[in-house]
Amino acid sequence: MKAVIFDLDGVLTDTAKYHFEAWKNLARSIGIEIDETFNQHLLGISRMESLELILQFGGRSDDFSALEKDELAARKNEAYRGLISGMTPADLLPGIGQFLRDLKEAGIKIGLASASRNGPFILDSLQITSFFDAIVDPAKLKKGKPDPEIFAAAAAQLKMRPAECAGIEDAVAGIQAINAAGMFSVGIATPAAAAADWRVASTAELTLERLKQHFTRKDK
Ligand code: BG6
Ligand code: MG
Repeated sequence: MKAVIFDLDGVLTDTAKYHFEAWKNLARSIGIEIDETFNQHLLGISRMESLELILQFGGRSDDFSALEKDELAARKNEAYRGLISGMTPADLLPGIGQFLRDLKEAGIKIGLASASRNGPFILDSLQITSFFDAIVDPAKLKKGKPDPEIFAAAAAQLKMRPAECAGIEDAVAGIQAINAAGMFSVGIATPAAAAADWRVASTAELTLERLKQHFTRKDK
């Protein structure tokens, strides 16, 4: 194992709850009620795709122009930015700080494969930007998770082969993306974790020692 590639929301920090809150309020403002169960489908999914899924769920797919959809997505993001504005290193999920330090010390490369365009801002707020050897810009990708493109791009930026990498995710779509990329997948907590090569109940279980024990190469 030469590199570890992280998802952000729900893995490094618990922003998944803020995405949910912002989407729930936005959906409600246009007469659509979403719950935690529906929210599972939004994890790892880009902003515009999430909006489309919500409109579809509410039977309102054809009710908004492209411009209005842009405005709805912008409103959600504004609300979300408000919710994450006060983030500090204290918002790192349990064990993540130590895990990043151990990876760095062991010379293992660290990458970010998040669909979020707010990723760099959040890494800065958490004061962990300097740990990352590669940060994929999701705006440059053709396909979102579950397509493997984002994890393949992270490995390419790190100059690693997929089989040398582990990917860590909390979303169904994300774990599918890691598996499809040919990397060792680690799934956190959610029901999503079922398809992962190694499942942990919480980030507190993520240690370099344990990951090295579970890691297996997935050469084709
Ligand atoms: C993913 C989240 O990491 O990023 C999704 O799991 C979110 O919930 C997506 O929609 C895009 O995020 P952003 O910050 O660009 O709206
Ligand atoms: Mg996530």
